[in-house]
Amino acid sequence: MKIALLGFGTVGGGVYELLRGRPEAQIKYILCRRELTVPGAAVIHDYRAALDDPEIDTVVELLGGEHPAYEAVRDALGSRRSVVSANKAMLSRHYRELASLAQARGAPLRFSAAVGGGIPWLASLGHAVDIEEVVAISGIVNGTTNFMLDAMATRGLSYRLALAEAQRLGYAEADPAADVDGWDAQQKLILSCNVAFGVSLDGASVPAFGIRGITAGDIAAFRRMGLVCRLMVHARRTAQGISAYVEPTLVPESSLLAGVRRNNNLITLESRCIGAQSFYGQGAGRYPTAYNVVQDILAVGGGYGFRFPALSPVSADNRAVMHRYYADGSITEPISVEQMHKNSGLRFFAALSQPGEAREEEA
Ligand code: HSE
Repeated sequence: MKIALLGFGTVGGGVYELLRGRPEAQIKYILCRRELTVPGAAVIHDYRAALDDPEIDTVVELLGGEHPAYEAVRDALGSRRSVVSANKAMLSRHYRELASLAQARGAPLRFSAAVGGGIPWLASLGHAVDIEEVVAISGIVNGTTNFMLDAMATRGLSYRLALAEAQRLGYAEADPAADVDGWDAQQKLILSCNVAFGVSLDGASVPAFGIRGITAGDIAAFRRMGLVCRLMVHARRTAQGISAYVEPTLVPESSLLAGVRRNNNLITLESRCIGAQSFYGQGAGRYPTAYNVVQDILAVGGGYGFRFPALSPVSADNRAVMHRYYADGSITEPISVEQMHKNSGLRFFAALSQPGEAREEEA
């Protein structure tokens, strides 16, 4: 393989290190804004320089942001190059077009590292879909907020210090608002739904509420109730179509979800044959994420892209999903997710959902 690596930041540098000395996957070009010298590779400043080289068969897009990442992936697929990307923001916005293009041109496209860092989540989800219908997905998909909630609950760190530590460790997005306000989790949920349900979900229909307003007082109140707060994604096939939303969720102290510490993720799929199956591991960071990118590079080298059997455009419908919520210090009556997320001006809210109970309410 002759590879153009677009982006040489935290993850790009990790991919370069993991591939060094592997002659079957040679990085020929590195796109980087900085002036630097990289042994064995030509540093370029425009992705088109790599696409002009007929030897390049694989493009690895780790630029982040929408532009020029979108154009680079579109042009690479258009010229029948294999593509690996970790760009959840860009892919969740342009999914239908790019997946259709990959399919039409027979160009393998994979994006495992876009959800769950180093966890083989999307690949496993794709394999599950090959066998039977996936009915639900849920879990913790943002390492930064899990690290923060864990540090606040177990080490008594303030919100500010916990965020600063997550940033220093390289977990947070360039703009950490994407983490703490739930947008990173929302993009990961959209991509997971697209793979799980064979759709192209309209991002604007998926509400996301994050952890920005949470205080030490809230965390102490949860502890008194035997609960732990986790920022979670939830999606399910329902009678109305697909429900999908992101919100802080209160889980029992003894649950698997409460035991997810630091930057780890725990993501679960549900299907009829297998029941619930969970995937656990580091959801953020240089080497875990680079590991998934390299797995994808080797897979597209063998011609294995993700399959896109259907790409129907759909909107999430959360009208029938009901929870009680902890909101600004008190507990509400059961209220629909749709209605709760429309409540503006609340400092913080978290769903009181117990495993099993949520399933019955959503059925
Ligand atoms: N900011 C993301 C997280 C990075 O904290 O999970 C990995 O996608």
